Amino acid sequence: MTRGEGAPVRVALLGCGTVGGEVVRLLQDQAGELAARVGAPVELVGVAVRRPHRHPDLIARYPDLVTTDATALVARDDVDVVVEVIGGIEPARSLLLQAIKSGKSVVTANKALLAEDGATLAEAADAAGVDLYYEASVAGAIPLLRPLRESLAGDAITRVAGIVNGTTNFILSAMASSGAGYADALEEATRLGYAEADPSADVDGYDAASKAAILATLAFHTRVTAADVYCEGIRQVSAADVAAAVGLGCTIKLLAICERVPASGGRPESVSARVYPAMIPLSHPLASVDGAFNAVFVEAEAAGQLMFYGQGAGGAPTASAIMGDLVAVARNRVGGGRGPRESAYASLPVRPMGDVPTRYHVSLEVADRAGVLSAIAGEFSRRGVSIAAVRQTGGQDGFSPVSGEETVNPDGAARLVVVTHGAADSALAGTVEAIAKLDVVRAVESVLRVEGLGRTVSALGVAG
Ligand code: HSE
Repeated sequence: MTRGEGAPVRVALLGCGTVGGEVVRLLQDQAGELAARVGAPVELVGVAVRRPHRHPDLIARYPDLVTTDATALVARDDVDVVVEVIGGIEPARSLLLQAIKSGKSVVTANKALLAEDGATLAEAADAAGVDLYYEASVAGAIPLLRPLRESLAGDAITRVAGIVNGTTNFILSAMASSGAGYADALEEATRLGYAEADPSADVDGYDAASKAAILATLAFHTRVTAADVYCEGIRQVSAADVAAAVGLGCTIKLLAICERVPASGGRPESVSARVYPAMIPLSHPLASVDGAFNAVFVEAEAAGQLMFYGQGAGGAPTASAIMGDLVAVARNRVGGGRGPRESAYASLPVRPMGDVPTRYHVSLEVADRAGVLSAIAGEFSRRGVSIAAVRQTGGQDGFSPVSGEETVNPDGAARLVVVTHGAADSALAGTVEAIAKLDVVRAVESVLRVEGLGRTVSALGVAG
């Protein structure tokens, strides 16, 4: 069946959880507005769910629309657009490829699938001449992918960096505000419904890594997959790390960072995509992004710095992004055109994490005697790592590891905080490993990457 003049744009929905339920509600509540905006009615013709007993209200309201046979729904020739909110790789990938190959446009929120195999979907959409839209896959309600793909298409994006996972941001915010440890903050996040029963996709950084892959692909016209993204989660962030950050006028955020790295030292221009907890100064705009909110900085050569902020998860916010895509796709159907194709023409290599320049903050408990500083500085120097600032607290009179207040310490231990200049991440990691083995070092209390300091380590009062 083909669409006639003024005929409705017919939508099949795959999955009807928190987000899908909101999509159904908005399609219903906004039907008149949507028709006016699109130039034709947008009509829901089927909803595929795996476990119908979980959707009594949906079935009571739309008895003719609900099915358990997603494959048959996608195959129907009276469907123009398939909206997928199932998540995961399969059966979502097979269903979307089936939809695309049969000429249907696709709107999806599936970050895991796009980050693992977006190329297959994009190539299939190109071959079939249909749309593939996925604004909801990154940062929920925040319009971010369309600005990267369209608004900034005439500029050169150099960096996309931000907080793209609300669960971990909630946990880190709770640790910073209450001094709680990771386990207690996770428990609170679970109790309040921010963290899932199995929180690993969020706390181990995989969710953010999928989003980083999608952002880097769009920003740098280069196919980047989740496997290309270096990923560290927040499980290892301790109350001592948070205290160390506070002591420096900083906070800790799980950052997704995508950068275009210029050619240098015989290395070609490349891209870096990485996710890890990092210290950022409290004066940095991302530092005040608390709770489950997301915020992303985009830097482009001509535009300068842009910041996008809002709700990165949840049924209604995510459904808002899906509805925006649905309207765009429906308009394209009505107008007989297609949205912008994905472009991966630049095909830049992805730089291994070890070669990426980063900066470290290292907090050590050391013996307080002659030659200690020199032994530690020697390990940095041996690997070509330049030190930006060193601060010693405690010493002969000792210190409290919690408050940093001076106390009587008969052992003569001191705390040494070192902040480095930028150096290859592998050189920094190697230095920390070597320092930990020095017998003058009693404990490595905290090791964190540092971002957003610019050229000055202002918290330490030392020019960087
Ligand atoms: N689990 C994600 C988060 C939301 O905590 O931000 C979906 O991407």
